[in-house]
Amino acid sequence: MRTRYIIGNWKMNKTATEAGAFVRRLMQELPASDGIQVGFAPPFTALHAAREALGSTSTLLLGAQDLYWEEKGAFTGEVSGTMLKDLGCRFVLVGHSERRQYFGEQDSWTNKKVLAALRNGLQPVLCVGETLQDRESDQIDLVIQRQLRAGLAGIEAQSLETMVIAYEPVWAIGTGRAASPEQAVPVHRLIRGTMNELSGSEAGQRVRILYGGSVTPHNLADFLASEEIDGALVGGACLDPVSFATLAKVAIGSKPTTA
Ligand code: PGA
Repeated sequence: MRTRYIIGNWKMNKTATEAGAFVRRLMQELPASDGIQVGFAPPFTALHAAREALGSTSTLLLGAQDLYWEEKGAFTGEVSGTMLKDLGCRFVLVGHSERRQYFGEQDSWTNKKVLAALRNGLQPVLCVGETLQDRESDQIDLVIQRQLRAGLAGIEAQSLETMVIAYEPVWAIGTGRAASPEQAVPVHRLIRGTMNELSGSEAGQRVRILYGGSVTPHNLADFLASEEIDGALVGGACLDPVSFATLAKVAIGSKPTTA
């Protein structure tokens, strides 16, 4: 069985000082996270404080929200995979819909970023998802396949297996209107099938596919009831340590019941 992931995306929230306090509280609240992996992605400016607060023995995974694909050089304002690795990051989000929507991120960039993450030993969490307009015009498959094929071009089967894909319908992010599991599951199947095709092997069976978009402690178990959904990428509900710990507890306690 694939280990489940609960990943918090802090977006542009919390100072370094607040991050330290958050992590200390989270560690008090979290049970031993047997069988699941819990991680969170603070802003760049809070990574060091979060790392310090985690200490050397925590099993919580630290990640970043983005990276640039070059290792170093004249790229004002950017942060490389090498820098993130040095700060203790284990994973990095790539192609989040807010990057695509507000910062013009293209599939060709996400591809370079996934490659840069892999080169630096960071687990890429590639975010894909359709807009409401795509959904209403029956373009879901087309959009998801394009984001996957372009974002993962040239990546070896062996690396594809280690990836995490987050399916985040844009219309569900931050709106309080989560997709229903019935809406999400077919897209998760499509993603798994595409990963098999891209790898020419069974990478799709090993890749972790998370759902994201208005996940809360109240609806998480409904998603995890499907074997297709390997965890969640959470924004709003991860900002409070008690709520985030509750998400982890729900994930530990829920077993998939459907194929
Ligand atoms: P949300 O954000 O949980 O606030 O909808 C999810 C995300 O953007 O990853």
